Amino acid sequence: MCGIVGVIGNNKTTDILLNGLEKLEYRGYDSAGIYVNNQKGKDFLVKEVGKISKLENAVTDDVQGLVGIGHTRWATHGTPTVENAHPHFSADNRFYLVHNGVLTNFEELKTKYLADVKFSSQTDTEVAVQLVDHFAKEGLDGEAAFRKALSLIEGSYAFAMVDKEQPDRIFVAKNKSPLLIGLGDGFNVICSDAMAMLDQTHQFVEIHDGEVVILKKGSVEISKLDGTAVQRDPYTVDLDASDISKGTYEHYMLKEIDEQPNVMRKISQNYLNDDGTMNIDSKLLDEMKKADRLYIVAAGTSYHAGLVGQNIFEKIADVPVDVELGSEFGYHMPKLSKHPFFIFLSQSGETADSRQVLVKVNEMNLPSLTMTNVPNSTLSREATFTMELLAGPEIAVASTKAYTAQIAVEAVLAQALGQAKGIAIAKDFDVKKQLALAANGIQTIVDEKATIKQLTADFLTDQTDAFYIGRGIDYALSLEAALKLKEISYIHAEGFAAGELKHGTIALIENNTPVIAYVNDGVGASHTRGNIQEVKARGAHVLVIASQKYAEAGDQIIIPEIDELISPIISVVPAQLIAYYASLARGNDVDKPRNLAKSVTVE
Ligand code: F6R
Repeated sequence: MCGIVGVIGNNKTTDILLNGLEKLEYRGYDSAGIYVNNQKGKDFLVKEVGKISKLENAVTDDVQGLVGIGHTRWATHGTPTVENAHPHFSADNRFYLVHNGVLTNFEELKTKYLADVKFSSQTDTEVAVQLVDHFAKEGLDGEAAFRKALSLIEGSYAFAMVDKEQPDRIFVAKNKSPLLIGLGDGFNVICSDAMAMLDQTHQFVEIHDGEVVILKKGSVEISKLDGTAVQRDPYTVDLDASDISKGTYEHYMLKEIDEQPNVMRKISQNYLNDDGTMNIDSKLLDEMKKADRLYIVAAGTSYHAGLVGQNIFEKIADVPVDVELGSEFGYHMPKLSKHPFFIFLSQSGETADSRQVLVKVNEMNLPSLTMTNVPNSTLSREATFTMELLAGPEIAVASTKAYTAQIAVEAVLAQALGQAKGIAIAKDFDVKKQLALAANGIQTIVDEKATIKQLTADFLTDQTDAFYIGRGIDYALSLEAALKLKEISYIHAEGFAAGELKHGTIALIENNTPVIAYVNDGVGASHTRGNIQEVKARGAHVLVIASQKYAEAGDQIIIPEIDELISPIISVVPAQLIAYYASLARGNDVDKPRNLAKSVTVE
């Protein structure tokens, strides 16, 4: 979702901006633009709808300078057009600004301060840049006008702004939306995500909400909105550019599916020692032991991983668990238990829907843990504790390895908590052995790509609708399997509790409707077999994915042995591959599906 880059003090400004925007493509966008100033009175604004490659073609050789800002836009206010693309500029062409986030009071500000200004876009962002200009016209200098505008603006934002009258600096500010400063050798950069600037630097400085940064070629001045100076040390991002390359793969998604066995091994090596001890923060376990209920808060795929985790924590750590959608829970919070403990599951660590819940949890002084793939992300910084997913950068918009990593890390924590509480079943659940089985089991499935590709063609060619069904653990899994299929193949898919279908939705089953049934859940297996017969009797074309233990002759995909509680780690993989091949067969952009963004930083 919207990406920001900026650079000051480097004579390769245009290349750095375009390269950074390419690296942010994975976040999802529909238009892009750059503003470059040569600090000698000449400047350039180039914006295009569509891919970065289109923007690159539109950038002519003379677009060179020493300061620049760039942006990928994921439309919120106003359709994807050149006018609505960023950077936006003030009516007198003095200020140029890029923005990630949503301003909630832009209409009010427009009416109150900007009634006479001619706007050239439909965006909330343009109000911000015109407002700065309004205060500059009243006599404030660029920085004071920026601060004055910030004091009035409400909502989420990461801003980067260039003032043509002071092109030796970039004005930066942040509230709720992610933004980082990168320290180069003789120059400085800004970016929504460190990955955008790894070719320039590995040294980054966080910006916190409510802070303003004046970024120059040789200095980074951070202050609060009231001007109080802030000191903050840089940190090193331990990634290298090859971690984010596709290697020999045609798509990131397939690479990331194939990486899952290694992710399981990495989680095991990092958290579990050979002598049976675990590397888990003892303070975290002490805090969790006090909890009478866990609240797992997440969105999308991470929410689905939370549903699997609910079962794991309840069985192994003997604690009741609620799994909540951040977008609902924050605004309709139920009566909490006496001693709640919150777990935020988030691949990106930036999801605004989850973050607004964490802000409220912190206001209530309640303890929390973020499980995330991105250390130093907002959710990781703001929670009491963090556990890393260790999945490595996930670039494809459709989440795969982060989902399986989330379940694995939940299982590790559940066992540690269960053992700390002396729960008998936690002693028997050997998470180290289970993660080894998971790694091998995933490998068995990814080695069957040719079969799964053929099954996808047999079941989904020319289909517009499909169902995934299952009971218990397989129901939670069906929700994720259906989401994968929807988001990248655009086939309408539903994940359904197998027993619930007959209460209405079975009306949609007709001749040849694809129904993919999961049979891994011991308690539900025989009943799901009954539900399979019901849909078959109505003409459904049924593909069965069953664990070795419950498989029957004719089942198409067999899931290798693993404890049922974490079986979705393996059994989701056929669904990931089915979605991949269905998307490929339809000629879709597998890694960057329409309308979607990787890091959803607006509510
Ligand atoms: C789907 C997908 C999304 C994310 C959701 C939450 O494949 O990736 O549903 O799971 O937007 O994102 P995170 O996990 O970054 O909080």
